[in-house]
Amino acid sequence: MTDIAVVSDPAAMSEWSDGVRARKKRIAFVPTMGYLHAGHMALIEEGRRRADVVAVSIFVNPTQFGPTEDLARYPRDLPGDLEKSAAAGAQVAFIPETATMYPPGAQTFVQVRELEKGLCGDRRPGHFVGVATIVLKLFNIVRPHLAIFGEKDFQQLAVIRQMVADLDVPVEIVPLPTVREPDGLAMSSRNAYLSPDNRRRAVALSQGLNAAKALRGSGETRPSLLVNAAKEIIQPKVDSLDYLEIRDSTTLAPLAVVDRPAVILVAAFIGGTRLIDNVRL
Ligand code: PAJ
Repeated sequence: MTDIAVVSDPAAMSEWSDGVRARKKRIAFVPTMGYLHAGHMALIEEGRRRADVVAVSIFVNPTQFGPTEDLARYPRDLPGDLEKSAAAGAQVAFIPETATMYPPGAQTFVQVRELEKGLCGDRRPGHFVGVATIVLKLFNIVRPHLAIFGEKDFQQLAVIRQMVADLDVPVEIVPLPTVREPDGLAMSSRNAYLSPDNRRRAVALSQGLNAAKALRGSGETRPSLLVNAAKEIIQPKVDSLDYLEIRDSTTLAPLAVVDRPAVILVAAFIGGTRLIDNVRL
């Protein structure tokens, strides 16, 4: 039994939120692309702690996928998603149609010019324009007081924070640490693509990042040596490495010396599946 309201019409969604706001209640929002896992549920649970009601959205956003990416086969499980959203404490699920979100003639997009460069931005041209645009649209429809995002998508979080600051969007952005499987693999809807053998190899990503973190903990500050420690573990287990880099954890700027809060980020293909992960140093 799922006890959650399902709304597909943007005007109806805004009306729901306006009703909640009129009763002086606070709204937390968790945007997702569905196929929910414990990471998404942790975001919803955090929303419950910080606000009176939680709205979740489920929308596989076409504008953030490249032409050769997995839009058509992105995993879907609507009944399971509603069950999990309700169990984690969400009161409403906004599930719009693609044609509603992008009607013919739509031509306005949001670009965060510097933070969209490098890392995933270079490997997935246009990706962060798609992300920033849909998140702003969802904010305008759902009208939350705060929105919760996972650090799993570290660059995405930075892009959204910047957009909110630059465009005076009245939504507080709340980050949450990455939720992992018992062996360390970062939870992801895309883990569903992994064969048993690829699943075993995938654990190398977090193991490599944690090796770099351990080396940093022992006093090493040279980025090249920290990256190499991770690479030794990751490279043999993946089919191709998109990037493995250390960045300033606030600005995402490259670092010559790791003498401030930093993050090591990786993207790699295992089989046909592109996985990302990051660990703070
Ligand atoms: P999606 O990949 O479904 O992720 C939705 C939210 O869940 C994001 O904030 C993401 O960082 C967070 N998340 C994913 N895996 C997590 C994990 N293992 N631990 C903690 N949080 C995790 O990110 C998107 O969708 C889309 O780009 C979206 C923001 C919805 C825009 O379309």
